[in-house]
Amino acid sequence: MIDALGRRGNLPAETSTFMGRDEDLAEVGRLLQEESLVTLTGVAGVGKTRLALKAAGELSGGAWLAELSGERNGALLAHTIGAAIGLPEQAARPQGDVLAEHLADRRMLLILDTCEHLLSPCRELVGQILRAAPGVRVLATSRQPLGLPGERVHTVRPLPVTAEDCDAVRLFRDRARAVCPGFEPSDAVVRLCRRLDGVPLALELAAGRLRALTAGELLDHMDDRFSLLAGRGRTGRHRTLRTAVGWSHELCTPEERLLWARLSVFAGTFDAAAAADVCADERLRGVPGLLSRLADKSVLIRHGQRFRMLGMMRDYGREWLRAIDEERAVVRRHREHSLALRRGMRHPGRRVCGDPARRPESSRPHPGPGH
Ligand SMILES: Nc1ncnc2c1ncn2[C@@H]1O[C@H](COP(=O)(O)OP(=O)(O)OP(=O)(O)O)[C@@H](O)[C@H]1O
Ligand SMILES: [Mg+2]
Repeated sequence: MIDALGRRGNLPAETSTFMGRDEDLAEVGRLLQEESLVTLTGVAGVGKTRLALKAAGELSGGAWLAELSGERNGALLAHTIGAAIGLPEQAARPQGDVLAEHLADRRMLLILDTCEHLLSPCRELVGQILRAAPGVRVLATSRQPLGLPGERVHTVRPLPVTAEDCDAVRLFRDRARAVCPGFEPSDAVVRLCRRLDGVPLALELAAGRLRALTAGELLDHMDDRFSLLAGRGRTGRHRTLRTAVGWSHELCTPEERLLWARLSVFAGTFDAAAAADVCADERLRGVPGLLSRLADKSVLIRHGQRFRMLGMMRDYGREWLRAIDEERAVVRRHREHSLALRRGMRHPGRRVCGDPARRPESSRPHPGPGH
């Protein structure tokens, strides 16, 4: 597609080196050949947008990017996408119809970047576009799948942290060299990357702190990762790790937030029975369903029948647990659960907070600690 300005696409130029992801790129390319809607999901800052842009850049034909994070009004979605692809406004007709008609005989890739807060309008509009425009492919990035029939979902995982020459450490080294020329990763860097779970955003923010701190010092202070990983001088929506994770928190219901907070006492993987044993009470019922919803929202990572939370999600939940004054009770319950498991008997579900009069803020919408 060529717009009024003669452009065949509007992808931004890369401004930093891209690391790894060969298998993801091959898989996304394959999925885009098979289906007209592919969604990249994954936790905050894991690299969905970066991967989508890279994958689009490797395809032949025009690719257009519509950035949706700044659009909070679903009713304006078609206008935002239209503006991104250079489509003039037509006040007389619904913009969704205008957009679908405009795209009807085009061949192009449309990247819808950051859809999780507009799932329902995205679902509706993408459905309309794909029905009208058989030559259009949509590549969406979203912490949660859109939920359209035929959608192919590819989960973007953190970069694996194995040794000094793995992609995560190479990313850290590359960003570190921008502030400390000649920087060479040490053992502490590998441990730091592992502590940051190989999440590219966290790696970049940590590398940016090397101006003031050594990798060892960063590692020592990782308990306070949200204070440390606030990117001074960064622009755009990824200035701090707290806001990146807090965005997921904002999109959770009160029950999901409460479960997220309580699950923060699990250090490794856990199954639904363990989660219910430790977290369920009269205020939090239906834990298995809530676990699935948290996994759909990329707050939890699925491992078969088990679940896991990355360190940054766990720390955020733990802050929240402290803020609602449940930390001691849930830690105790987790300890009792572990002891009962070791003795070979599963612990019967018990209440975290026996006194409903102490109903804390967690059951109400709240912007989250530090917001
Ligand atoms: N493979 C990679 N190589 C180099 N840098 C990367 C890679 N993946 C991600 N990054 C960098 O990490 C940061 C976060 O990546 P990105 O914005 O793609 O995350 P995201 O998953 O889209 O986050 P969000 O859920 O908040 O939208 C960006 O600065 C990006 O350039
Ligand atoms: Mg993104």
